[in-house]
Amino acid sequence: MAYKHSVLMGTAALAALLSMPVLADAKADQARAEEIVSGRCFLCHGMEGESASPVFPRLAGQHAEYLARQLADFKSGKRKSDTMKPQSEELTPAEMKALGAFFANKKATPTNRPRDIEILAVGRYIFSQGNSFSGLPSCASCHGAKGLGTPLLPRLAGQHPRYIEDQLRQFNKRERTNDNAVMHTVASKLSELETHAVAEYIATLE
Ligand code: HEC
Ligand code: HEC
Repeated sequence: MAYKHSVLMGTAALAALLSMPVLADAKADQARAEEIVSGRCFLCHGMEGESASPVFPRLAGQHAEYLARQLADFKSGKRKSDTMKPQSEELTPAEMKALGAFFANKKATPTNRPRDIEILAVGRYIFSQGNSFSGLPSCASCHGAKGLGTPLLPRLAGQHPRYIEDQLRQFNKRERTNDNAVMHTVASKLSELETHAVAEYIATLE
């Protein structure tokens, strides 16, 4: 009995020892991420990734891998952005990963403001059904029924409509330069009304 007890204790202590450096590393990474965010990112994206201004994308609840990849693409110039290029220039891959985790762990809180319900109905249709007349696939087929995305595909739910519209126009004109093959095809099939309506609908998803 006493022997069994000490073996169990030993295993637990060993497990704790083994996991400690990992936990300490993750903690140090998050402290570093917080330092970077409070140094500059917060100015546009907010400390909680909530981006109070509709011009700046919300980062709260976005997938960590997607965020880290965007930062790498801004840095390399693969995703062209005059604003984000200087912001990402000095980030190391480890810092990009830590920043991704930092914002992914924040709670996404969509802004609730009155929206035109007729427009929302069009947006919901486009989002969940696409448009078979123009060959537009539904957004839900890739981004998920509620726009939550996957580690490889961005979350859209609750994003500022202005940013969504802006990105759709950029994809259409190939001004968004990273991974635009898929989204260019999608965006090129959207009418102005559909672009606006789907962005308004996305803002209401949580
Ligand atoms: C001066 C304002 C500003 C600052 C400061 C800033 N950003 Fe940005 N960020 C933007 C804008 C604008 C975009 C949209 C990119 C575009 O289309 O040019 C963006 C886009 C992003 C994206 C892509 C989001 C998506 O959904 O694809 C990430 C990730 C990001 N920023 C992270 C950061 C991090 C991390 C920092 C701090 C190191 C930071 N930003 C600092 C303005 C800013
Ligand atoms: C066939 C799959 C597919 C479909 C369908 C699709 N998307 Fe996408 N979407 C993607 C991929 C992949 C990306 C990531 C691009 C990247 O990494 O640069 C993306 C990125 C985006 C972004 C950029 C998000 C950000 O944070 O910057 C927006 C906005 C977007 N999609 C909106 C839509 C809308 C609206 C629809 C429906 C009209 C739609 N997508 C349909 C695959 C798809």
